[in-house]
Parts: sequence; C-alpha cells; structure tokens
Amino acid sequence: MKKLNGDLKNNIAVFISGRGSNLNSIINYSLKKKTIYKVKLVISNKQKAKGLLVAKKYRIRNYFIDITKSKKLGNKVLNILKKNKIKLVCLAGFMKILPAYFVKQYSGKIINIHPSLLPKYKGLNTHQKVIDNNEKFTGCTVHYVNRFLDSGKIISQNKVRISKKDNFKSIKKKVLKIEHKIYPIAINKVLSNL
Ligand code: GAR
Repeated sequence: MKKLNGDLKNNIAVFISGRGSNLNSIINYSLKKKTIYKVKLVISNKQKAKGLLVAKKYRIRNYFIDITKSKKLGNKVLNILKKNKIKLVCLAGFMKILPAYFVKQYSGKIINIHPSLLPKYKGLNTHQKVIDNNEKFTGCTVHYVNRFLDSGKIISQNKVRISKKDNFKSIKKKVLKIEHKIYPIAINKVLSNL
C-alpha cells in the first residue's frame, strides 16, 4: 500500500447521527503514517449528535444537515462533497436511509458499518435479534451502500463469540470494540483499490 502524507491523502467524509465512537477511531487511525485517508469533513443529520463534538475536537469541518429531508439539502451536501474533493463517504452510525439519487451520484463510493454479520439481521435492534435467535456468534460488517438497506457488497467482517454470560450490554460492547478495529482498516483498503 502506498504511503501518503499530509495533503496527498484521500479526503473522506463521515456521516453520523449520534455518539461518534466509530468516527473517533476512524480519525485516530488516519493520524498514523500508513493511512491513506484524511477525514476532511463530518456531516450529521442530528444537531445534537455527540459526534459533532468529536469533529470539533480534531478541528474537522463539520455540518448539521439533514440530508434526507429534501433534495435541496441533498444537493447541498453533494456540492460540499465535490468542493472538498471527497473520494469516499463513510457512514458511521448514520441512522437514516440515503435517498436513491444521492447513492447514484456517489455510486460505489459510499460504505457503511453495521453491527451484525450481514446478511443476517439487517436494520435496527440487531443485538436483540441475535439474543432472541440464540446465536453463538455475532459481529460487524463493512459493506458498500446501495439502494437497499444493509444489502450492498460486503467488504469485511469480524466475528465475536457469544458466551452464556453475555447479555445485550456486553454483546453491544464486544461488537463496538471490533467495529473500531475493522472500519478504519476497511476504509484504507477500499481507497487503495479506487
Ligand atoms: C454502531 O454500532 C454502528 O454499527 C451502528 O450504530 C452504532 C454507532 O455508534 N450503526 C447502525 O446500526 C447502522 N444501521 P457510534 O456513533 O458510537 O459510532
């Protein structure tokens, strides 16, 4: 993998709705020498998302725009992405479905992290579904975003074992931990193949 520094790194945008722990791990990884991306901007569809504070802490340009509210706002975001030469959009806890026209504009250049071993347990409440189905393993998946919910081509997955002692909270914690590990690596991998 090519080593790039400073301004030569690929610009990425991270879309969030909440806490931003994945955003934090993506930024931290980007500070390493071997990384070929730079988090150029963060867009949240929620004004009070804690993740916006993470962006501010690292002095990353950040916006509150509910992209899904109107085509006008969607186009505004597309313009911001263009102006900032964004190569890849990374959804990290972005809890809305992107409109089809938006996905089409950035086709093959939007990825997402989902807290289950897709194709199992698309959508919400994944950990509860895992418990209800007595699964022995769960995990997380990084995948391309297409028009359909959590259905694009899989880029990488990581598994964790569920023990008898586990509960909703401990499963959520275990999965989040591996999310933080695999997402930044997946971003680097995708960009090195673009
Ligand atoms: C993460 O577990 C992520 O996989 C999930 O939301 C959480 C966001 O946490 N995303 C989805 O469920 C998307 N369908 P974070 O804001 O701390 O990164």
